[in-house]
Order: sequence, then structure tokens, then C-alpha cells
Amino acid sequence: MEKEIITLLSQREIDKMRTAGHLAAKLLHHLGTLIRPGVSTLELDTEAERWTQAHGAKSAPLGYKGYPKSICTSINEVICHGIPSAKQVLKEGDIINIDVTLIVDGYHGDTSRMFFVGEPSPLARRLVEVTDECRRRGIAAVKPGARVGDIGAAIQEYAEAQGFSVVRDFVGHGISNVFHTAPQIPHYGERGRGRKLRPGMVFTIEPMINEGTYEVEVLADGWTAVTKDRKLSAQCEHTIAVTDNGVEILTPYPGEDEVALSPDAA
Ligand code: MF3
Ligand code: CO
Ligand code: CO
Repeated sequence: MEKEIITLLSQREIDKMRTAGHLAAKLLHHLGTLIRPGVSTLELDTEAERWTQAHGAKSAPLGYKGYPKSICTSINEVICHGIPSAKQVLKEGDIINIDVTLIVDGYHGDTSRMFFVGEPSPLARRLVEVTDECRRRGIAAVKPGARVGDIGAAIQEYAEAQGFSVVRDFVGHGISNVFHTAPQIPHYGERGRGRKLRPGMVFTIEPMINEGTYEVEVLADGWTAVTKDRKLSAQCEHTIAVTDNGVEILTPYPGEDEVALSPDAA
């Protein structure tokens, strides 16, 4: 099989990715402050689009392959690509993923995380915590010379040890002035397999972790991906760059660890 070309970004391009990424993280944090029972996901989308334009940026999802809105809002059994709607009203106990992608000066920042609406069930809370730890462990596996399979293995081992499953049908992706490009970053896999990581590679790590089966069903709208068994799903996403000695998170969430731990410390 022929190897796909993975573009290495220059320092100047990574600077632009950082600007876009930090702005995307700021938007995500802003949207998080609006979450409470009774708010519709259309309201979140409208505010996201207003905020994005006010900051001189562009929403990458809007119109992407026909996607109709500016953000994705994925509640409870929705895995990803939930479409904001006036009919989708947040209620006490829901868990929601908000996924934002901004374009600034031509470059993309792609990030998502989970939010609780009021108080979640103990199971929902544990699923979200495990997903967050998966993201952390996946990022900690990134350094020059490591392989794409190391990332998926770190995530899969932890998720399955906790009794959850890893979605196969959606993967992380290279990202730059292009929204989705090589390499693909599966959140499952084997250590030592796959492409070798090199400084200048920029991609997302965005594990989707399910309570039950990892199987996916896409609803009639052509976008909304739900768990086949309608049990809970959680996801979080960062855009990262491989650096000379490790990894840089380009979409650091305010208040979270900006630098990932080394694999040994994880
Ligand atoms: N932000 C999503 C990702 O993480 C992609 C959304 S594409 C859309 O790759 F069209 F659904 F918005
Ligand atoms: Co992404
Ligand atoms: Co995303």
C-alpha cells in the first residue's frame, strides 16, 4: 500500500494553528458558561456563530460537506455530529459534547469537550472522566519517533479496562489549512504500528468512548451518529502538534494542563 503524504507544518504555520486553537478553546469555554437546563442547542449555535464573527474568525463546520450549523452538539447517546436545533433543549442530568472548529487566517483549531447539565448520574460522570483520561493518555503517547498505533493503544487499553468501548467509525485527523487530512488517528490499535510521528505533524486526538457497544448508527438527517444500543457516549478533542521533544496542545482549555505528561508519568 502506498503511504499517504503527511504534511509537516513550518513554525510559522504552527503559530497560526496555535492562534486558531487558542481561540477555539476560548469559544468552547464561553459556550460552557451558557449551559443549563432549558437552553436549546440552537441558542448555543447562534451564540457560537455571533462570537466567532465578533472575533474575526470563521466556523469551519458551517457548510462543510453540507453541514447546516456552526457547531456540533452531541447529547447523551449521540456520539458526534449532533445538529443544533430549537427542539433540542438541555435537561437536568444530560451530558453534552460541544465541538467547535474555527478558522483564523486560513488555519483550523478543532476542539471539543463534555459538559454536565446540572448533576449527572454516577455512571455518566464516570464515563466522562474516563473519556477525559483517555484523551490525556493519548496525548501523552505523542513524541517524535512514537507511532500512531501507540496513541490508540494507550486509549483503548484504559477505556476497555474501565469497562467501556472505543468507537471505530470516527477517528482523529491531520489538520492545518485543511479541516480533515492525513494521517488518520484511530483511538484503538497496537503499539509500534502505524506511521511514525515527526516534529511538525499536527493532528487531532478525539476519542469517543461508549458505555456499551462501540457500534454506530447514523440517523436519517445524515449526520447525527448515535450508539446502536442507545447507551451513553462521551468525547473530547484536542488539536496537537508533535514538537522536537514531545507534544504541544494547540487548543488548551482554560485551567487545564497545557503540557501533557510524559508517557511514563501517565
Ligand atoms: N469537528 C468535527 C471533528 O472533530 C468535525 C465536524 S464536521 C461537521 O472532526 F461537518 F460535522 F461539522
Ligand atoms: Co476533529
Ligand atoms: Co471537532
